[in-house]
Amino acid sequence: MSDLKSFVAANGDRMLQELNDLLRIPSISTLPVNASDCRHAAEWVADQLRNLDCEVELLGSDTHPVVWAKGPEVPGKPVVLAYGHYDVQPPDPLDEWETPPFEPTVRDGNLYARGATDDKGQVFAIIKAFEAVSKGGKPPVNMRFLIEGQEEMGSGVLFDLLDERPELVEADAALVADTQYYAPGIPAIEVGLRGICYGEITVRTLKGDLHSGLYGGVAPNAHETLVHLLAKLKTEKGKINIPGLYEAVKRPAKAERDAWAKLPFKEREFMRDEVGAKALTGLTRYSVFERLWGLPTLEIHGIMGGFTGEGAKTVIPAEATAKVSLRLVPNQKAKTVEKQLIKTVKQLAPTYADVSFSFIHGADPVLVDIGAKPFDLIDQAFREVEGRGIVFTRSGGSIPVVAGLAKRGAPVLLAGLGLPDDRLHAPNEKIGVDQFLNGIRVYGRFFELMAE
Ligand code: BES
Ligand code: MN
Ligand code: MN
Repeated sequence: MSDLKSFVAANGDRMLQELNDLLRIPSISTLPVNASDCRHAAEWVADQLRNLDCEVELLGSDTHPVVWAKGPEVPGKPVVLAYGHYDVQPPDPLDEWETPPFEPTVRDGNLYARGATDDKGQVFAIIKAFEAVSKGGKPPVNMRFLIEGQEEMGSGVLFDLLDERPELVEADAALVADTQYYAPGIPAIEVGLRGICYGEITVRTLKGDLHSGLYGGVAPNAHETLVHLLAKLKTEKGKINIPGLYEAVKRPAKAERDAWAKLPFKEREFMRDEVGAKALTGLTRYSVFERLWGLPTLEIHGIMGGFTGEGAKTVIPAEATAKVSLRLVPNQKAKTVEKQLIKTVKQLAPTYADVSFSFIHGADPVLVDIGAKPFDLIDQAFREVEGRGIVFTRSGGSIPVVAGLAKRGAPVLLAGLGLPDDRLHAPNEKIGVDQFLNGIRVYGRFFELMAE
């Protein structure tokens, strides 16, 4: 048995117990009430790294610090930077969880908890891989850790930190553990991620709420105005109605699209089992992969205002707000898209309504260069553990810092451990116990191969 395999066999239960401790911390970055939990999770991660002889710094924020750590110096060996995040998304709707989100539970070979796959399980696999290869304080490579606490809310603290201290991410390879296999048994390297532009559209039509009987028929309703506006932003066929939006979109090359067409994929099963829908919508003249990976989207996440409590209240709401986001693809820019959206929203609104857009977070899309040597090494590591090498895909999701990492020069390996049915951001999020344990072997082997 290889060293890594026996390490995982001997330490698997202990490592899962440790991971459970991290999963019990409700480090929901977007909710202010959980600020101290975010700090707690950062300190938990920092303690783990200190126990592996790392020098650790908590940077940029008291409540959501970036955990940056430097492993023991190994002269002449390459620098490997590992990225992940300890923050998680809110767990609601709570009543749809089979076991509570912050009480990690194993069922049928899966570990269920908010953050199990996104991203605590993956972060922890990297830390344990480093432990496995560290053998008494002598790791094979010069390790750096960059583990942030604001990924799920736009990475503002990390962006500012890297502007000030770009040297923190200087490396020969950056390993990002925050993505997915293509399918069970088929590891993937993601070549691209979509960007995002997230904000709130608010419409005000009245000085204050009104009796819907006394004024209904003459008074403009904020919800009605907002809903009409939102409906105009996208056609029923899925085309986003923002002038200029598609101009910067660079279609994936034919070779890349042909490679996607060769991936094992059954559209009906994907629709029924993974999406859980009766139809797939969007620009249906493009393939599902191109719609997910190569085209922008516009989503409405929620609409607030008016009366939504129990019972009935006859009111004409004066104000209504929608949370919306666009996903962006190469070569769109988040800043440009924000301006285009604001302009369109103002133009589409009737003159009697005051409309505003309040930006929440944004990230540019990214394509990584896949020519460098570390890509061969991670492929080999996956081959040794999983019995097969990687496929190249993209992802429709976003990781805000990746564009910045890629710009600063180190090859960025989006080599995550999740599976497509992990339900990240949703109830009953899970990570496969074997994904976690095999991931430790893959990452550990990658560190060894980098050293050779
Ligand atoms: N890890 C995900 C993104 C992801 C998942 C990429 C699977 C590739 C494969 C990340 O935590 C995430 O959810 N990001 C947010 C970013 C946003 C809040 C700025 C997203 O995509 O919604
Ligand atoms: Mn993530
Ligand atoms: Mn996420």
